[in-house]
Amino acid sequence: MSHPDDAVLIFDTTLRDGEQSPGATLNVDEKLEIAHQLSRLGVDICEAGFPIASPGDFEAVRRIAQEVGPLTEGRKSGQPMVIAGLARANKPDIARAYEAVKAAPRHRIHTFLATSDIHLQFKLKIDREECIQRAIEAVTHASGLCDDVEFSPEDAGRSDAQFLTVVLGEVIKAGATTLNIPDTVGYTTPEEYGRLIEYLISHTPGAERVVWSVHCHDDLGLATANTLAGVRAGARQVEVTVNGIGERAGNTSLEEVVMAIATRPQVFGLHTDIDTTQLTRTSRMVSAYTGMVVQPNKAIVGANAFAHEAGIHQDGMLKSSLTYEIMRPETVGLLSSRLVLGKHSGRHAFRSHLNDLGYADLSDKDVNLAFERFKRLCDMKKIVTDADIEAIIADEIYQPREVWRLNHIQVSCGDHSIPTATVNLMGPDGKVYEDAALGSGPVDAVYKAINRVVGVVNTLTEFSIKAVTEGIDAVGEVTIRIQPHNGDRDEVVNPQTGQSFARTFSGHGADNDIIVAAARAYMSALNKMLTAREEKGANERQTANAV
Ligand code: KIV
Ligand code: ZN
Repeated sequence: MSHPDDAVLIFDTTLRDGEQSPGATLNVDEKLEIAHQLSRLGVDICEAGFPIASPGDFEAVRRIAQEVGPLTEGRKSGQPMVIAGLARANKPDIARAYEAVKAAPRHRIHTFLATSDIHLQFKLKIDREECIQRAIEAVTHASGLCDDVEFSPEDAGRSDAQFLTVVLGEVIKAGATTLNIPDTVGYTTPEEYGRLIEYLISHTPGAERVVWSVHCHDDLGLATANTLAGVRAGARQVEVTVNGIGERAGNTSLEEVVMAIATRPQVFGLHTDIDTTQLTRTSRMVSAYTGMVVQPNKAIVGANAFAHEAGIHQDGMLKSSLTYEIMRPETVGLLSSRLVLGKHSGRHAFRSHLNDLGYADLSDKDVNLAFERFKRLCDMKKIVTDADIEAIIADEIYQPREVWRLNHIQVSCGDHSIPTATVNLMGPDGKVYEDAALGSGPVDAVYKAINRVVGVVNTLTEFSIKAVTEGIDAVGEVTIRIQPHNGDRDEVVNPQTGQSFARTFSGHGADNDIIVAAARAYMSALNKMLTAREEKGANERQTANAV
């Protein structure tokens, strides 16, 4: 993939490395929605998954390649995204990755093999010579299938640099077009990592024929700094995730790298094709679907990233925003206005405001849903802000298919009564069901009443609540995670590490009544779990028929 020297390619791995973080599991529809948004954002390469990992992963990558792969609308580059699939360095993995991505007009096989002595000795139990041979065979096989092949020496950050130049020189000869240098365990410091990239680029035979890429993990909180050091040393592809999600402490955050490059042209002298006004929307979507809450002080996309509390800062900001603001909120898709629209605003004004917020592509049905909620909120809340509108959108639109729908809840509680909840739900058969339950608190009572109707057992493993804006009438946003029991329990194996963990399902809901928000979050998680049960059954039937 050739590109100008001052362009940095954005390789997004939210759907692969990001989704590998326990608890962030996404279903096929959610992955498709996110891939659409990554295309709008202007991502150059979308690593859509690890196709051999499961039939669900394969299907998600295949559909992204087919449905999102050809899209060019709104993209600065005018080119569609490259759709990449990950594969270990063996033929079955590579064949499966190719099958999954091949429908995309621009597709890539990304194959990896560990090169550090620790991994060779303890994980792969092979010597360096065998490692070189396996890398050559994998890349030769992949480049026989497609022109765009990326190779990653896993744990490069702890590998012998001289040995790396040998492996990398061989895979260039075998047809690799991008070489990615992962700091898999987030061990290096910016100086070390920058030096490593510089050394590899200047000592690997054929280095000038490939794109050099950086891939960092945040175990020491250095992922963004390391990535930028790699870019300054000559890398022209960065592997990142939205909100920095990923295994353990996560991956390098897309928004941080993109905004650092955009805000400091005198330091980097580089550019990306990202439409930065889509960053906030992308962050919210990924957070809603993965259930990974963004910390308020997170750079660029945290709720406080552009808030100025201290009196001295507010005073300076009123005189000139240059005093304390290095980026304009609008640049990342945040509008500066506080009061946006009122109860007398019409659908047209609402839609046009959604366009300004970066939601130009929402369907009429979705806009209508959001508009109805907005009107109800205006009756209850004096000031409706952009943050409220984004919470409504996440609550109404970034939701799984409704197997069961919550119609109403009623709760009675207090310090002298036993919390009691009544729920009214619509079932998959279109019939209305009602039941009631007592609980240790109002949320517990609601969840028990819903369980009595829906009848699936699970454990609530996480519950968090946050106010979207300040004030007593603020909208509350609840994010939860549940783990199914028995028959619905699903062990997910990470083929990169071999570790397995029980799959959990996240749900989110927003309302200015926090008990209603909690009920909506629970329905969202339950619906995801029930859809996954259906998908699993369908996959098992397909496999049985194929045998
Ligand atoms: O961190 C890592 O080493 C990876 C590789 C598979 C690129 O994610
Ligand atoms: Zn990684």
